[in-house]
Amino acid sequence: MSNIAHDYIEDYIRGLIKKPEGYLGEILDYAIKNDVPIIHPEVAQYLRVLIKSHNVKKILEVGTAIGYSSSVMAEAAGADCSITTIERDDNMYSLAVENIKKQGLEKRINIIKGDAMEVLEKIEGEYDLIFLDAAKGHYDHFLPLCLKHLKINGLLISDNVLFRGMIASNELLIRRKITIVKRMRKYLEHISNMSELETVVLPIGDGIAMSTKIMEV
Ligand SMILES: C[S@@+](CC[C@H](N)C(=O)[O-])C[C@H]1O[C@@H](n2cnc3c(N)ncnc32)[C@H](O)[C@@H]1O
Repeated sequence: MSNIAHDYIEDYIRGLIKKPEGYLGEILDYAIKNDVPIIHPEVAQYLRVLIKSHNVKKILEVGTAIGYSSSVMAEAAGADCSITTIERDDNMYSLAVENIKKQGLEKRINIIKGDAMEVLEKIEGEYDLIFLDAAKGHYDHFLPLCLKHLKINGLLISDNVLFRGMIASNELLIRRKITIVKRMRKYLEHISNMSELETVVLPIGDGIAMSTKIMEV
């Protein structure tokens, strides 16, 4: 239960989405079995639709984990796409490298090992889409660096922004998560009020925010 949508709605929507086949399906099974936090099926499907409808080719991801979402995006964006994804955890990074290689996606996906704050400072270039899916309490810190790398009319997708319902309702709040919740609320207010962005929060998965950059920051 995500506490974002009613279970019956979530189950129904998920029932409409095809389960990934082949090795991508194996990565998904591994993630579920080993509690690796990956994107929810409806978020994966949403990314596929966005990427295909906007002809997205250049993608930056913050938070690779074992390479599931980057593989989903690489499949959707096609052979001529280029994805840069950042992961700081040694174990996750190694698994992601192996998973990307086993799917033959190494030409499309470049995994950079390191802390996103440092890597985002160093990398160059502008991206069509940035997928922010790392430490939830630090989205506001990542934001200026992400926006620097986002082209005008590009998309910033921030995942887990409704965090199991806790962001919208104090009744669901778990005390030890209060710092993350406060920071996420601040982040959502920030991206919703920036004149350089147009933002919508969508109650799918664990909640996503979709922003487009309408002018230079
Ligand atoms: C939710 S998981 C990413 C899931 C992945 N996007 C997917 O759906 O397949 C978040 C990942 O971000 C990584 N992470 C958290 N903070 C980070 C940081 N500051 N720099 C780089 N990676 C970070 C964590 O180690 C974790 O593997």
